[in-house]
Amino acid sequence: MSAPSAPLSLPAGHRVVVPAFAESPLEGVASATLEAMDAPDPSSLAPGDVIVAVKSAAVGWVDLLMTSGQYQHMARPPYTPGLESAGTIVWAGPDVTSASVGDDVIVDGFLAGPRSLGAYQRWGGFATYVVAPAHAAVPMPQTLTHDEAAALLGSYETAYHCLVTRGRVQAGETVLIHGASGATGLAAVQIAKLLGARVIATGRSEQKLAEVKREGADEVIVLRYENGELQPFRDAIKTLTNGRGVDVVYDGVGGDISLESLRCVRFGARFLIVGWASTPDVAKGKGERGAPRANHIPTNLVMMKSLDVLGCPTAISTAMDPSSRPPRMKQILAWANEGKLKPRVSHRFALAEFREAMTAKWNGEVLGGCVLHP
Ligand SMILES: NC(=O)c1ccc[n+]([C@@H]2O[C@H](COP(=O)([O-])OP(=O)(O)OC[C@H]3O[C@@H](n4cnc5c(N)ncnc54)[C@H](OP(=O)(O)O)[C@@H]3O)[C@@H](O)[C@H]2O)c1
Repeated sequence: MSAPSAPLSLPAGHRVVVPAFAESPLEGVASATLEAMDAPDPSSLAPGDVIVAVKSAAVGWVDLLMTSGQYQHMARPPYTPGLESAGTIVWAGPDVTSASVGDDVIVDGFLAGPRSLGAYQRWGGFATYVVAPAHAAVPMPQTLTHDEAAALLGSYETAYHCLVTRGRVQAGETVLIHGASGATGLAAVQIAKLLGARVIATGRSEQKLAEVKREGADEVIVLRYENGELQPFRDAIKTLTNGRGVDVVYDGVGGDISLESLRCVRFGARFLIVGWASTPDVAKGKGERGAPRANHIPTNLVMMKSLDVLGCPTAISTAMDPSSRPPRMKQILAWANEGKLKPRVSHRFALAEFREAMTAKWNGEVLGGCVLHP
């Protein structure tokens, strides 16, 4: 048991608040406000809690979808966004033995913040302070800055779940990664390389793909559009794979790119459905259930090529099988501690600039991660 902390005199701060679910993420961002917040009062907290002064909060795609209730999990408005954050413990309850004041930690988004269920849901990372149970304070790898640490778990856990748990990617296989410049895509590039795979990465920007190559992709393909129509890239893939096609597709983009990808795979390939960044409005807005604009996949190609089409919802799968998480976390933190993986963060904003930050993320201006500094 740690010694009782001295009376606290933490300065007041600010937090972002989403008042109600909007019709679309951009409307949700516009309706969100920056409010003053007092520092949490320890006398109102549980003895196993910690208060974290947030240094960096990741601006995630899910943070955007959640403002319109278009993510499968809905925080109850009014709520503070920020699934992922990193900071320093400034108060630890009397029962806390696993962490101390002054420790740098990542706040586990499954256990505190808007994606969590229960009492800690209101402590989103777009705020000066977060309260979390001590077991949600994950020691920050010393190899990472607060910005990199805030951008670690969501994206790398997703990439790991998709490539390892679902995709069973083996050394020597070729993986086609769409949305490779994005947060989960770039994590997938790094993890696929650590698994010994060959990576072909796609994206719309030559400049961003040059950086993706620097992060380890073996080959990059710039997607071309004519009059809004995606131009086929199957020939480029066939050339790069000696006519064979890729073993695995990691698809975080969806839409036309998914359809074209089905023509770029070998017989018996695995197709990992990670997300649909190109068609983000598949679900109804304002938190209504249902996905009237969902993407569709042609069953004839799935059948004739004997494909394994694998849905990869990391958060839902983790809730269904919590035992899947500890080995995943252990491996990701080990790789981070060994300096083998490091999130790329291209955009940094002050908390008051949360609208600019969320809009930059929505508009695809970001390479890897985007963070706020509360
Ligand atoms: N399965 C899971 O558990 C899980 C977890 C987290 C997120 N996701 C989903 O994964 C997807 C990606 O998330 P993220 O955080 O990586 O997003 P992100 O950082 O915004 O990256 C998405 C990337 O997709 C590309 N893209 C966006 N719009 C496109 C379009 N219209 N056409 C072609 N490419 C487009 C962009 O790359 P270029 O600009 O280079 O083309 C962008 O960098 C989202 O749908 C998200 O909901 C899934």
